[in-house]
Amino acid sequence: MDCGTLYEIRDGILRLLPAQEFIAPLTRKEQAARDVSAASQESHFSEWENAVEVSAIMDGKSLFLDKRILDLACGTGRITTHILPHAQAMLSVDLSEESLRILGQKEGPCGKLGLVWADATQLRLLPAAFDLALSTQLLEHLPSIEERMRFLKSVHTALKPSGVFVLTAYYYSSLRRLLRRSPEGFHSNGIFYHRFTRGEIESEFSGMFQILCAKPIQVDPRLIRAFGPFAKRLAKVSERIGVQSLVGQLLYVRAQKREAAFAAQLYDQTAAAHA
Ligand SMILES: C[S@@+](CC[C@H](N)C(=O)[O-])C[C@H]1O[C@@H](n2cnc3c(N)ncnc32)[C@H](O)[C@@H]1O
Repeated sequence: MDCGTLYEIRDGILRLLPAQEFIAPLTRKEQAARDVSAASQESHFSEWENAVEVSAIMDGKSLFLDKRILDLACGTGRITTHILPHAQAMLSVDLSEESLRILGQKEGPCGKLGLVWADATQLRLLPAAFDLALSTQLLEHLPSIEERMRFLKSVHTALKPSGVFVLTAYYYSSLRRLLRRSPEGFHSNGIFYHRFTRGEIESEFSGMFQILCAKPIQVDPRLIRAFGPFAKRLAKVSERIGVQSLVGQLLYVRAQKREAAFAAQLYDQTAAAHA
């Protein structure tokens, strides 16, 4: 870095967060909750949930091959560890220092994983440094459109021309809409979430990214948990018959960086439309 600021590296983690600007109160709350629950974070995901999400992401396995990957909100590395063996290098960022520490211990000093403690909505990265950005289950926790736009802008800057952004985010399914469930709320630990429709993702991304694929995945586990030992098989069958639009809980999105000039113009228009 040639900005004149020195940042500390402790336990293999680059500590940008203490020098970042104001962190929104809801984000601070999430940070505290994630630090407390880091050790048990991955136990909240069942084996089949992981399998469905990982398989959607790894569907384009060649996407990750020998690529420089920016991994935003890596948590304890539930998804990172599947991608890392294919990557040339990976920079994994999270708000929770404790989660990063756990990921660091899992991977050890492998030489191709960098860990950064930072708010991903305030990252200032070297332009066009990454082939691909990955972000699983972060977008829904960014508490406002302004933060999401700031986040998308820094991903856009960090990607090379035609770079790809792969992500998953909570989905606002037809069933939830029929049942008049609110698309927004708080988990029991106080963490904010927003469930997205495909249309919302398309509208928020359109200024900077072209959506290549946006599909609901992962049937809501509450619907199949009752089937006990058959739940995993039932989940597989339901993915195949395609009921996720109705009852899916995640959106899998693959998007491509738009050309900078076009993006800047559309970014201004999108920001104005949401102002
Ligand atoms: C549901 S977890 C997902 C973790 C991991 N990507 C996965 O799929 O298992 C959400 C993660 O987002 C991180 N996070 C939330 N807001 C963030 C922000 N503004 N900047 C960086 N990380 C953030 C949290 O600390 C947490 O680790």
